[in-house]
Amino acid sequence: MLPRVLESVTDLTLEQIQELMSLARHIKRKGPTQFATTQLDFTAALIFDENSTRTKFSFVKSLQYLRFHTIDLIPDQSSMQKGETLEETLYTLKAQGVNLAIIRRSIPGELHHFKLAPPVALINGGDGMHQHPTQALLDLLTMMENGENPKGKTVAIIGDSRHSRVTHSLLQLFEMWDTKVILCGPQSSLPRSYSSGHISWCFDVAEAIEKADILYLLRMQNERHANFQQANFFADYAALFQINEERLKGRNRPVYHPGPSNISVEISKEVLKGPLYRGYSQVEHAIYLRMALLWSYYLDHKRGER
Ligand code: CP
Repeated sequence: MLPRVLESVTDLTLEQIQELMSLARHIKRKGPTQFATTQLDFTAALIFDENSTRTKFSFVKSLQYLRFHTIDLIPDQSSMQKGETLEETLYTLKAQGVNLAIIRRSIPGELHHFKLAPPVALINGGDGMHQHPTQALLDLLTMMENGENPKGKTVAIIGDSRHSRVTHSLLQLFEMWDTKVILCGPQSSLPRSYSSGHISWCFDVAEAIEKADILYLLRMQNERHANFQQANFFADYAALFQINEERLKGRNRPVYHPGPSNISVEISKEVLKGPLYRGYSQVEHAIYLRMALLWSYYLDHKRGER
């Protein structure tokens, strides 16, 4: 059984992660349109009150392929805008027949409060600067499917790790997956401390590229920085840390990015359009991973009915 609340990667066991990878690969081989052939009596609600293109629409597409019913609750157009709490919203949706909700919110750790008695199954679609577990899982799937399984390897996460929910989820997953991580970026953008031995710090991007098997770039998240001096900061960052053809010369490292990118800041246009870039592959594999996850929740629901 999957956890009723998937807040972070550590809510899953290693065995569950491996099973999700296997199912996602099976869905990819079979073809997502061939997986479910009849409409199923299972309803998922999307509750996104932070902007999203990749996460939201890959869940939408996954739900369509699985032939589940879907409700798209847009917080600004719902009674949440009148002050209704998330808890009351979830109980209301449950009374309307919703079985599962995928939630993106700016409040970090909010789903934690539902762990004892969740109204419906909950999947974290990204909560503030806290966690983004399905992004980390789809990144792992993408790496495996590109022949770049990070097990026993080193991944350099370059950019604004401190404010990145993706980093926080990747660090949990990579610890379980026996993957070393180099956190690289300006000192002000790196976490102040991490207790795990699989993580090291590096302030020199050339050294990080040299030591890593895989590069994982992050966007400088100007919406999460106070008093952000955008023009200077971006230019300074690009000069010191941008991944471009010059820096990759002779070092053919695959380049991952969860998106969206600040093109010409953390990544050059040439690299983004080049053969080492895996960002669009991540977007593709998001469908297989999220289908696998949603299908597993559906099976748990059917078992619970028996
Ligand atoms: N990777 C990611 O979460 O992208 P979106 O914000 O577009 O969903």
